[in-house]
Amino acid sequence: MSSRNRAQKIPYIQDKMEPSEEYLIKHRGCYFATKLITPEGIDSLEEFEIRDSDVFLATYPKSGTVWTQNILSLIFYEGHRNGTEDIVIMDRVPWLEYNVNNLDLANLSSPRLFFTHLPYYLVPRGLRNRRGKVIYVARNPKDVMVSYFYFSKFMIALETIPDLNTLMERFLSGKVVYSSWLDHVRGWYTHREDFNILFLTFEEMKKDLRSAVLKICNFLGKRLSEKELDSVVEQATFENMKRDPRANYEFLPDTLVEKSKGQFLRKGTVGDWKKIMTVAQSERFDMALKEEMKDLPFNCLWDSNEEL
Ligand code: A3P
Repeated sequence: MSSRNRAQKIPYIQDKMEPSEEYLIKHRGCYFATKLITPEGIDSLEEFEIRDSDVFLATYPKSGTVWTQNILSLIFYEGHRNGTEDIVIMDRVPWLEYNVNNLDLANLSSPRLFFTHLPYYLVPRGLRNRRGKVIYVARNPKDVMVSYFYFSKFMIALETIPDLNTLMERFLSGKVVYSSWLDHVRGWYTHREDFNILFLTFEEMKKDLRSAVLKICNFLGKRLSEKELDSVVEQATFENMKRDPRANYEFLPDTLVEKSKGQFLRKGTVGDWKKIMTVAQSERFDMALKEEMKDLPFNCLWDSNEEL
């Protein structure tokens, strides 16, 4: 069911929930941050040439992008792993649709690593034709929304949404950056045959990081020694990433973030939503999404106590 139909099914999603054009622009069915992205920029990505050695990390925002960016950089770059190179992860694994540090993305040396928040249908055509590899990381949508709630306060390009109820209605009707969480996850999953793709969840990474890193290595055909693997896992823990200036995203310019109001590495836990959402809000969320999730293999996202 589309976001529009979902909104119709739930009568108390109000028109006043419309996002401001100052912050969000809709292009080809997806909302983007007006201050960062142009429709022409998105369209130009269709022809972005993909190499078989390319690796793309795809996520809905707030699902563990920075975490997985760091893991990829640690896996691929010995100099990152042993601390001899001081290159931030935004330059190691740049953002496809918003080139923060103006890198020459097309001419980076192989293997190129990228991350994207794009829905499956807007990524470069080559990727949709099974060139390159994709790692998709999904996270419990309640935790995603709560993370976004805090994130919107310090990310200048995003509208600060003062109360959780308003954000929840926008989130459930897909009127947030990158549109509906459900459409994003479902789109990538139902079109998985078009890609070389590995699905992971934030929750499984949290539960057993070593196994998740091994899964990534196996998928990408990277063989690390036990010692190297230990080093990746050690440096990808929340506490160590927070201390690591290459990984903690404090390198972002003041034009993008208001550092006094938050940080990318906030709590890094599973189930933080339980501390902030009311029972009524949680039920409202379940009503809107749980049924629709039935056909997807991500039911584990709903309850961290269930087997992953
Ligand atoms: P919280 O706001 O719940 O703390 P993204 O990178 O997609 O924007 O996702 C950000 C979320 O990932 C934040 O969640 C952040 O704390 C969490 N995160 C980043 N690195 C992490 C790590 N090493 N371990 C656990 N969570 C991490």
